[in-house]
Amino acid sequence: MAAKKCAFGMIGLGTMGSNLLLNIADHGFAAAGFDKSEEQVKKLNDLENENVKGFTDIKEFVGSLKSPRTLMMLVPAGKIVDDVIEELLPLLDKGDIIIDGGNSHFTDTEVRAAELDKKGLHFFGMGISGGEEGARHGPSMMPGGNKQAYKEVRHIFEAIAAKVNDVPCVAYIGPGASGHFVKMVHNGIEYALMELISESYEFMQRGLGMDNKAIKGVFDKWSKGRLQGFLIEITAEIFSFKNAKGDHLLLDDIKDEAKAKGTGKWTSQGAMDLVLPVPLIDTAVSMRDLSKYKELRTEASKIYNGSDKLKDKPEEYIKHLEKAFYFAMVNAYAQGMHLLYKASEVYNYKLELDQIAKIWRGGCIIRSEFLDKIYSAFQANAQLEHLLLDKYVQTEIKKSLPGIRKVVSDAVNAGIGLPAFASSISYFDTFRSEQMPSNLIQAQRDFFGAHTYELIGREGVFHTDWASNVEA
Ligand code: 6PG
Repeated sequence: MAAKKCAFGMIGLGTMGSNLLLNIADHGFAAAGFDKSEEQVKKLNDLENENVKGFTDIKEFVGSLKSPRTLMMLVPAGKIVDDVIEELLPLLDKGDIIIDGGNSHFTDTEVRAAELDKKGLHFFGMGISGGEEGARHGPSMMPGGNKQAYKEVRHIFEAIAAKVNDVPCVAYIGPGASGHFVKMVHNGIEYALMELISESYEFMQRGLGMDNKAIKGVFDKWSKGRLQGFLIEITAEIFSFKNAKGDHLLLDDIKDEAKAKGTGKWTSQGAMDLVLPVPLIDTAVSMRDLSKYKELRTEASKIYNGSDKLKDKPEEYIKHLEKAFYFAMVNAYAQGMHLLYKASEVYNYKLELDQIAKIWRGGCIIRSEFLDKIYSAFQANAQLEHLLLDKYVQTEIKKSLPGIRKVVSDAVNAGIGLPAFASSISYFDTFRSEQMPSNLIQAQRDFFGAHTYELIGREGVFHTDWASNVEA
């Protein structure tokens, strides 16, 4: 491909970068790759793919791209992104497009986009989901940035994206950092779903005394019904993966301390900044954090030991658990979508929530059968503020209420922790309350800090000298 200019450039040839590059090449686009590591570049060039060329010299790499240039970075979030931009700047021309395909914090993307815009460059923050496999064979992608510039790259992304009924799992998300914001919320929902699946495992194992084989059977069944989703499917596979000796599950050898790169925490932080509750995601983040306190938990388990087995038959409980999972899963998606609704308003992202649900149906980690229902709900009503108000969702949620109430209350009585399940029903019961007890909070704030309160049916703010009323 001596003189042929490339349509796409990739900076960072780790697993994600090289897989995405090869996916692009597979779809007939000449693609150039850059990495400082000679080994990574050699690996790429050794493939002898006629559509791919790797470089260790950034000038040669940029020179190999046709104008306007389209370059994507797939490097770790943080300072490295700024370093790469710095290095690229003298080599680029006005109108070139730089895409950050990593999990950068949306506020960093906002700053970068504004800075590069001043220089006449288009900066895209693009969430990419689907892991290594997705990058190679079809991810879900969430590009945010200049809408005009998106037209230059749209055909490439639509070609390489995962497809659901031939519809590509990529769509222009909105301006500025909206793409990274949406990917962050995707990850928040991912944390919540993973926590709910783990708590289902806890309920079946500790509460019902089921063995791994029986638990696998349940996840297998769920993979085929309305709970179908990528995370449930991989869970069923985990429950059949043996250790090296082949005498028990590898899962049983894995430490119960969950790590996190931080996108779940960012979702909770971002939601609190917007005054928008996502308690299921908060709980999922907190439980990963609690899992790290192994020594403390071990000590506490000796003091407060014991939990009961549940009394009804496991087969009966599995039916309740299916309903409970459905209920909590719907709440997890609903809270995430609510956060997107609010962010769209406050940050002026102009998000089309139906399009977001549409591109999450395939390729990404939270893809599931239910996303089709979310897509339909926002298609039917683009202004839908909360998914729990959708007609179809209402009917299904009402049917699953006895299941979630039974599972959570019996687990509490038996001493089994299901914090995300419990959070989902408490959120729901509060969400459906016209009157909350927050009038008391206002009275307390005014009592101790003269923070004032508002009255029902009367304009203005009021303060009372509450202490004067204390009876002697
Ligand atoms: C994806 C994932 C991915 C994320 C991992 C790990 O959409 O492909 O969200 O972006 O890095 O899920 O995240 P944690 O290390 O925080 O669990």
